[in-house]
Amino acid sequence: MQSTPLNFDYQSTTPCLNEVVEVMRPYWDESWGNPSSRQNLLGIHASAAIGLARDKISNCLNVQPKHVVFTSGATEANNLALLGYARAKAYEKGEPGHIITLSTEHHAVLDPLRQLRREGFQVTELGPNPDGLLSLERLNDAFQHNTFLASIMLANNEIGVIQPLSLIAQLCRDRGVLLHSDAAQAFGCVPLNPHTLGLDLMSISAHKMYGPKGIGALIIKDHIPLQPLQWGGGQEFGLRPGTIPVPLAVGMAKAAELACQDQEIRNLYLKNLRDQFWCGLTNNLENISLNGSFNHRLPHNLNITIHGVQGNRLHRELKSLISCSSGSACSQGSPSHVLLALGLNLKEASASLRLSLGRFTTSKEVATAIEHISRVVNKLRE
Ligand SMILES: Cc1ncc(COP(=O)(O)O)c(C=O)c1O
Repeated sequence: MQSTPLNFDYQSTTPCLNEVVEVMRPYWDESWGNPSSRQNLLGIHASAAIGLARDKISNCLNVQPKHVVFTSGATEANNLALLGYARAKAYEKGEPGHIITLSTEHHAVLDPLRQLRREGFQVTELGPNPDGLLSLERLNDAFQHNTFLASIMLANNEIGVIQPLSLIAQLCRDRGVLLHSDAAQAFGCVPLNPHTLGLDLMSISAHKMYGPKGIGALIIKDHIPLQPLQWGGGQEFGLRPGTIPVPLAVGMAKAAELACQDQEIRNLYLKNLRDQFWCGLTNNLENISLNGSFNHRLPHNLNITIHGVQGNRLHRELKSLISCSSGSACSQGSPSHVLLALGLNLKEASASLRLSLGRFTTSKEVATAIEHISRVVNKLRE
């Protein structure tokens, strides 16, 4: 009997790599200065560390260092992008306008947009195609004379589908609409260059790519007006005041470097394991289906519905064997809005598993997980 469940929940978060922990270490005790206190040596050292971290992250993304604004994570980056730009634009125009998004976005996008709706903005939440991808035609039809912003995620956190962002960006550009993308699940996992993708604003997070929790960034193209969400010491170009957590920024930069270094080979490894997982499950079990496009998908994501079983019993039986989830880590146990948007009913959505793989997943673990899931499902179907 194994003591700890096998981890197939790498999309909710990842462990900090040892190399990341090591580079962060001196910034907790030896070099504990405040990066804004540049009158003393400790502060100068801390400020230099932040500068270097910003340089490294910008190198990984092919942007300039001044385009990287540190935040507490992708949630805050999304809020800053959406609330910040919408409010700045409304101030300039004298009235709120129209925003387009996708109904399968993470709540860190949907909820700030719902707040903007309460502030008078019009928000259209477009449903996806049954494979989770956004229809370009539907997007084209959704533009209004007053549309000024669209927010479309790069890779979905539940079903892993990768949206055709450069085509989406082209449509937005043609209409003079600014495009934000939540790339929390994509940064470090797929090659990412916001400029070639045509993004104006992009949110990223460190803890999805083996970095520390509590730090992320908003990538901002030049000349985009943003109203800050907080006011204070003017840090982060006046957009995100407050003392930057130096160890976390240093750790995020190291995690980004490591993630970008072995991306191609890791993706191949993960894709093979993911395919082993899917083939094993479909060989052993009838009546299971894959949620989301198979071809336009993160290499480490599987999301499956197991028909003919009760979701709560399935999850209860698997709990001690496998760590996985039925939806986003932030959905607080309610049925996945993403799966419902794909057309699944409540029963199907709750009998679904998000199985996400990571750098430490082995083929043996996948084989064991296939056995566990098959045994549990056969038992529940008896
Ligand atoms: C797509 C997406 N956006 C935003 C977030 C929130 O990121 P953070 O925890 O860095 O605030 C997550 C994390 O689950 C996510 O998957």
